Amino acid sequence: MIDLLVRDVRVRDEETGEVSAADLHVDGGRIVGVTPVADDPVEAGQVVEGGGAWATPSYVEPHVHLDAALTAGQPRWNRSGTLWEGIACWSERKPMLTREDVIERAERTLRWYAANGTLHVRSHVDVTDPSLVALDALLEVRDRVRDVIGLQLVAFPQEGICSFSGGEELLAEAARRGVDVIGAIPHFEDTREDGVRSVEYAVELADRHGLRVDAHCDEIDDEQSRFVEVLATRAARSGLRERVTASHTTAMGSYNPAYAHKLHRIIARSGINMVSNPMVSLHLQGRFDDYPKRRGITQVKELLAAGVNVAFGHDDVMDPWYPLGTANPLQVAHVGTHATQLLSRDEIEETFRMVTSRAAAVLGLGADEYGVRAGGPASFILLPATDGYDAVRRQVRPTHVVAHGRVVATTPPPVTTLMWPDREPSEVTFSPTGGPGA
Ligand code: FE2
Repeated sequence: MIDLLVRDVRVRDEETGEVSAADLHVDGGRIVGVTPVADDPVEAGQVVEGGGAWATPSYVEPHVHLDAALTAGQPRWNRSGTLWEGIACWSERKPMLTREDVIERAERTLRWYAANGTLHVRSHVDVTDPSLVALDALLEVRDRVRDVIGLQLVAFPQEGICSFSGGEELLAEAARRGVDVIGAIPHFEDTREDGVRSVEYAVELADRHGLRVDAHCDEIDDEQSRFVEVLATRAARSGLRERVTASHTTAMGSYNPAYAHKLHRIIARSGINMVSNPMVSLHLQGRFDDYPKRRGITQVKELLAAGVNVAFGHDDVMDPWYPLGTANPLQVAHVGTHATQLLSRDEIEETFRMVTSRAAAVLGLGADEYGVRAGGPASFILLPATDGYDAVRRQVRPTHVVAHGRVVATTPPPVTTLMWPDREPSEVTFSPTGGPGA
């Protein structure tokens, strides 16, 4: 008898793209069989009726700050809406951090992520706090949530590496304590030279410890902020390449076309990943502009066209930089389609990949960790949707979230009863084939 049978779902072949109806056999945390839908199903400890839903790999969150999550308004609200006031609010909140406080908020946010169908998360954690209390707490959280969510931690020097007293040593200490990724924030350093040196330091440190790099890079509406060229070049020359990610790069939304053209080539050649955080960038950037007011979003469409892997991240969930957020990558994809004008049929489908497979590539998830196939991990979601386009359009919630072979969340699809004049009351459901069902 197998642990779990998920009956009558649609599965997309990863190579051919073909979709077929199937039963998923799950045992020991792995998918042990993908078979045609059987009239006489095998015996299983638990049976889930898929009802024709789409069984797809989970969402992947490539960029969030769990140490700051759910602190919006503590000790005060960010009134100007700038990145800079956000950093000021956070530096007032930081001295109040305790291990229990960080663990409670981080785990609550991760439970929201799981309920929304997200089973892999990369979180930055501020290490410009000599006590490193948030880092130690999140290292503990990484272990505590392991059975549901794979959590990667980035040592994030919020207040700088070279321009912050003790910054280099704190980053090195975070590497020793067991983070997965080294961060940087070159545009926040005091000088261009400090910014360049901070990137070099981060890449060398990561290389020495066998870690990845994910830098907050050029998160400013300053067309002179040009650190992504440094990061991409260091990634290529060190050989770290696809193990490196540039996050935000909002200054690219202000670069002149000639420089942008040159830069696309440097980035594509380097093999690095890019993460755009459209909800938060729309909110934080453009704050110093009169009209016309910039969107403050990196060149997502152009980077994709240049063959660069680009993913969408949430960035903040109710913290000093962003007062909203529900830890739902599908919402990020929806906002991202608008913010980046990725709104053709195929482009909308691409935005779904930007919160699933493209984000998985940012985290470096291998075939043994991600994908719905025989022999693959039994970590997937059931979406009552035809495809990514349909899911993004209707913001469909997963009916089931399965993590390591165990059902960890269920959400019945909502049903609205419509009392339309001169018609019998009818149920308006949203069918898997796309539109309102009545
Ligand atoms: Fe961020």
